Amino acid sequence: MSNEATIQVSKAEVGDGPCLEAKLAEPCALVIFGITGDLASRKLIPAIYHLAVEGSLPEHFCVVGVSRSAKDVDALRSKLREAVKKHSRTGFDEAVWATLEPRIECVAGSGGDAETYVRLEGMLAELDTRHGLNGNRLFYLAVAPSIFPPILNQLKAANFIQCPDSVGPWSRVIVEKPFGFDLETAQELNRLVAEVLHERQTYRIDHYLGKETVQNLLVLRFANSIFEPLWSRKYIDNIQVTAAESLLVTNRGEFYDQTGVVRDIMQNHLLQILAMVVMEPPVSLDGDDIRDQKVQAIRSLRPVEPEDVVLAQYEGYRDVDGVADGSRTPTYVGLKVKIDNWRWHGVPFYLRAGKGLKARDTEVAITFRKVPSILFGRGKVEANQLILQIQPDDGISLSFASKVPGDGVTIGTVTMDMTYAEAFEKKSGDAYERLLLDAMRGDATLFARRDEVEEAWRWVDPFLKAWEGASGEVPTYPVGSDGPQAALDLIQRDDRTWRPIG
Ligand code: BG6
Repeated sequence: MSNEATIQVSKAEVGDGPCLEAKLAEPCALVIFGITGDLASRKLIPAIYHLAVEGSLPEHFCVVGVSRSAKDVDALRSKLREAVKKHSRTGFDEAVWATLEPRIECVAGSGGDAETYVRLEGMLAELDTRHGLNGNRLFYLAVAPSIFPPILNQLKAANFIQCPDSVGPWSRVIVEKPFGFDLETAQELNRLVAEVLHERQTYRIDHYLGKETVQNLLVLRFANSIFEPLWSRKYIDNIQVTAAESLLVTNRGEFYDQTGVVRDIMQNHLLQILAMVVMEPPVSLDGDDIRDQKVQAIRSLRPVEPEDVVLAQYEGYRDVDGVADGSRTPTYVGLKVKIDNWRWHGVPFYLRAGKGLKARDTEVAITFRKVPSILFGRGKVEANQLILQIQPDDGISLSFASKVPGDGVTIGTVTMDMTYAEAFEKKSGDAYERLLLDAMRGDATLFARRDEVEEAWRWVDPFLKAWEGASGEVPTYPVGSDGPQAALDLIQRDDRTWRPIG
């Protein structure tokens, strides 16, 4: 008989009403630079479509796509329609699309060309009259980072940016990641952003912050009295944060080879999750109060020791189109880090991310200290674990010891499993839906602030630069595996193991 059991938790009871009322999304034109690109097709337009399905879009709203190749609006609309059909998480409803399609327009031109902005201005003025947009503009830079500066400069030169303190129309800008290539370039970009925009108008997107389990971290930690008292070095043995993908680099070889897993996932997504897990309680739910605490958390990360980081490539990565011969770009990172503050002193954090792994699995695993082996003997009782599953199937599980029914005392491990879909009978939306809506509401809580981004680079830069400056063999791992042997050894040295992937 197995000594492991799983308990499904019952349906959730929903409280009286929201603690924090979501503001209404305001009328606006969403101007997407890079409308014909991959991000717009896979994420942005499907997200807009779902907001339309749920009736969450402002009544007065339209999308203007800007791209050199967006010459014919009918062709663009039909391309986006196919994209929604392919990438929608809930199928395709003709009637909903019919309400959205006529609100999609385009302007052909390059983001660095002043002429484009003359045409854009004409188009937006006309749409203001036609759709009652009140002159509000949400610009989305869904383009390669090298094009951010020319677009920002042109937006400023063409007077598209309103001062956020003025009454009247507003302008906000969403900037896609990667935000900079290292600390120096991130600071440079931040300086340019600050010349064009006020921080309050700047929305640096990190879509992991829009994921339900990541947002729920605040509630789990601060709305329950049973976790926070245990949330420290006194009771926690170690914390693992994993962002594993089975996906390979596919057709993004050129981009990925310049980026690698540390810039693509660790500097942003993984550190944002970690910051939410370890930060101190904010004084309020105000965006800046939360972000203040996250910055402190990232600042407390101790520099990584060279022997505590493993970078590797999946086998066959160098054969991908666009990847340089002999490339050293890592597709896997696994490391150990400590946090130098009162709460976490001495607790090891194991972080890993990679492509071409066994499964798609993003989670935070919190392992509590074991009880003293006085009553039940050494090795008979497993440590309690709290798993925050971010994807797939977002939810939370908690394992604890229980007596196996019968004679004598045999101890089993029971796991309580909660998934959002079952507990709330509702599937979580895609992160981009929430984030686009927040930007239309003027709520930057779930976007990264300037200092957060810079602190994250400050921590990542030294080990990344050391790797890039080195030569020699790059460790590899088989596609579909748990990662390189060196990463398994890294944690084994501490007498611990990684949580299984998948
Ligand atoms: C993106 C990275 O930010 O996140 C991709 O550029 C990665 O390389 C993706 O695949 C993962 O996002 P998600 O939401 O599928 O986990």
